[in-house]
Amino acid sequence: MAPLFRPGTDSLLRVLIALALGMPVASLAGLLLLARNPLGRGSFSPREQPVEFDHRHHVGDEGIPCEYCHEGAWRSPVAGVPPTQRCLGCHAQVWNQSAKLEPVRASGFDGMPLRWNRVHALPDYVWFSHQIHVNKGVGCVTCHGRVDTMPAVQQVAPLTMGWCLECHRDPTPWLRPLSEVANLTWRPSGDPRETGRAVQAALDVHPRTNCNTCHF
Ligand code: HEC
Ligand code: HEC
Ligand code: HEC
Ligand code: HEC
Ligand code: HEC
Repeated sequence: MAPLFRPGTDSLLRVLIALALGMPVASLAGLLLLARNPLGRGSFSPREQPVEFDHRHHVGDEGIPCEYCHEGAWRSPVAGVPPTQRCLGCHAQVWNQSAKLEPVRASGFDGMPLRWNRVHALPDYVWFSHQIHVNKGVGCVTCHGRVDTMPAVQQVAPLTMGWCLECHRDPTPWLRPLSEVANLTWRPSGDPRETGRAVQAALDVHPRTNCNTCHF
C-alpha cells in the first residue's frame, strides 16, 4: 500500500511549527505557504483490510457497543482496535466455519496480530486525544459519522486544523450528555445549543485554541 505521507514531510512541518512557536513573525510566511497545501490530509476512501470487518453487522444488527472493541477511547488518547481474542470470544463459536474469518482464526492460532490499516490518521506533529473529547460530551458520530451504516469505515470529517478550530472556538452546539456519546442516532430534542449549554456548564467545557494545544 502506498504510504499516506511522503517521508520527511512531518519532520519538516515539525521544525516549522517549532519555529512558529518560538519566533512567530519570521516563520509566518513559511507557514502560510504550507497552510493551503493538502499534505498530510487523511483519506476519504475505505482501505483494504486483512478481514472484511463490517460495522453494519456488528454495531447495526448485533448492537455490540463501541466500548466493547474501542474501550481505549474513554481512557486514553487512542481508541485502538480490538485484539484477535476479542473477535474469537464470539467467532470461536459463531460463524466458525466462515472463510472470511480464516485470517482471524490464523491470527488466534499463531499469535500474530491482525494488521488493520488505518482509516483516520493525523500527521504526527498534531496532538489529539480521544479521552478528553469523549469525557466532555463530544460524540463519536460528530467526528466519524454513521459507521453503523458503512460496509467499510470511511473518513467523513475533514480532520483539518480549520475543522478542529471551528469547534474549539464554539463547541456548544456539538455537546451531548455523556450517556449519549457512543449513540450514533441520538439527536437533541430541541435547540442543540440549549442542550449543549447545559452539558457545557455541568462538565465545565472550555477547549483551548492556542497553537500549543495541538502542536508542541
Ligand atoms: C466487534 C468489534 C467492534 C465494535 C463493536 C465497533 N468497532 Fe469500530 N472497528 C473495529 C475494527 C476491527 C476496526 C478496524 C477495521 C476497520 O477499519 O473497519 C474498527 C475501526 C473503526 C474506525 C476506523 C479506525 C481507523 O482506522 O481510523 C472507527 C472510526 C470506528 N471503528 C468506530 C466505531 C464506533 C463509533 C463504534 C460504535 C458505534 C464501533 N466502532 C464499534 C471493531 C469494532
Ligand atoms: C459479540 C460477538 C461478536 C464479536 C465480538 C465479533 N463478531 Fe464478527 N460477527 C458476529 C455475528 C453474530 C456475525 C454474523 C452477523 C450477521 O450476519 O448479521 C458476525 C459476522 C462477522 C463476519 C462475516 C462472516 C461471514 O462469513 O459473512 C466477519 C468477517 C466478522 N464477523 C469479523 C469479526 C472480527 C474481525 C471481529 C473482531 C474485531 C469480530 N467479528 C467480533 C459476532 C461477533
Ligand atoms: C473530536 C473528534 C473525535 C471524536 C469525538 C472521536 N474520534 Fe475517533 N478519531 C478522531 C481522530 C482525529 C482520529 C485519528 C487520530 C490520530 O491519527 O492520531 C481518530 C481515530 C479513531 C480510531 C482509530 C484508532 C485510533 O485510536 O487512532 C478509532 C477506532 C476511533 N477513532 C474510534 C472512535 C470512537 C469509538 C469514538 C467515540 C467513543 C471516537 N472515535 C470519537 C477523532 C474523533
Ligand atoms: C466537535 C467539537 C470538537 C472537534 C471537532 C475537535 N475538538 Fe478538541 N476538544 C473539544 C472539546 C469540547 C474539548 C474539551 C475541552 C475542555 O477540556 O474543557 C477538546 C479538547 C481538546 C484537547 C485538550 C486540550 C484542551 O483544549 O482542553 C486537544 C489537544 C484537542 N481537543 C485537539 C483536537 C484536535 C487536534 C482536533 C481536530 C483533529 C479536535 N480537537 C477537534 C471539542 C472538539
Ligand atoms: C485544535 C487543534 C489545533 C490548534 C489549536 C492549532 N492547530 Fe495547527 N494543525 C492542526 C491539525 C489537525 C493539523 C493537520 C491537518 C491539516 O493539515 O489541516 C494542523 C496543521 C498545521 C500546520 C501544517 C500546515 C497545514 O495546514 O497542513 C501548521 C503549519 C500549523 N498547523 C500551525 C499552527 C499554528 C501556527 C497554530 C496557532 C495559531 C495552530 N496550528 C493551532 C490542529 C491545530
